[in-house]
Amino acid sequence: MTEVAAMTQTAALTARLPDAQTVTAVRHWTDRLFSFRVTRPKSLRFRSGEFVMIGLMGDTGKPVLRAYSIASPAWDEELEFYSIKVPDGPLTSKLQHIRPGDEIILRPKAVGTLVLDALLPGKRLWFLATGTGIAPFASLMRDPETYERYDQVIMMHTCRETAELAYGRTLVEGLKDDPLIGDMVGGRLLYYPTTTREPSAQMGRITENLTSGKVFADLGLPPMDPAQDRAMVCGSLAFNLDVKAVLEGFGLREGANSEPLDYVVEKAFVGDGI
Ligand code: FAD
Ligand code: A2P
Repeated sequence: MTEVAAMTQTAALTARLPDAQTVTAVRHWTDRLFSFRVTRPKSLRFRSGEFVMIGLMGDTGKPVLRAYSIASPAWDEELEFYSIKVPDGPLTSKLQHIRPGDEIILRPKAVGTLVLDALLPGKRLWFLATGTGIAPFASLMRDPETYERYDQVIMMHTCRETAELAYGRTLVEGLKDDPLIGDMVGGRLLYYPTTTREPSAQMGRITENLTSGKVFADLGLPPMDPAQDRAMVCGSLAFNLDVKAVLEGFGLREGANSEPLDYVVEKAFVGDGI
């Protein structure tokens, strides 16, 4: 092949993989969940809690892109993602096979409602998540600004089974030894993981544990109060709607980037038929 032909071919390949980033690490947590890290494009600026579009080139030569919360904090040199594996999913049926050195597509534009700027100041910040909905909070719980703004941070994460809690548990348990923010986090991050379909130390849906008052009793906290408590919610549409009703019951009001208030919500995924 001539040099010109080789360059043309390289250019064509680059054109087919716009915004390519290199996978640096992959960890499988269960047969349905994995996390991975990729290089971070210099042009990407984001606020912890936001999401971007990532994907792979499809068989037809068109990119298959999906929304993904960035699970790493804004200060991290790389980007981390926490992903479901949907057996027939257009993206994740393939994405689950990535290995270090592979490339993925990442559009360097971050957006989202789960950002500190969308909430009023307060004393406590509650992260309420099911399943992969913990991803934006994996970012926020590693951001020093979270602890600058709030005295206490409570991470409630609920899954059907214990194994599905492993990513979050590993992250939370490692934070106290984190050289960058370990001292700042100290004892101010309270972790409340529960399962709903497998017996474990703490059980029950987040909605039940909030309305019954069990989580407040277990953690030694007063019930939610709009004068002091702020919340961020990320799960299925049904979960988000039910949690919203519970938060409104405590008197909290939904905020947004344009109007910061007491809580914000984002879908962890778009469900079948929704
Ligand atoms: P899709 O065709 O996209 O989905 C097929 C079906 O699988 C869906 O209809 C739904 O029933 C189910 N499903 C999809 N995603 C999930 C999930 N995360 N948990 C449980 N069931 C699911 N996914 C992540 O894994 N991690 C993230 O951080 C993440 N962040 C998101 C942020 C936003 C704002 C939105 C809207 C979605 C996010 N998703 C995330 C979902 C993601 O965009 C894709 O839906 C997912 O990667 C599956 O892609 P797919 O093409 O394989 O299947
Ligand atoms: P449950 O096992 O009682 O349905 P899923 O895997 O279906 O997305 O659910 C993830 C977790 O979220 C499960 O523990 C599930 O509890 C819980 N969950 C699902 N829907 C709701 C809801 N509407 N309100 C509160 N928790 C929910």
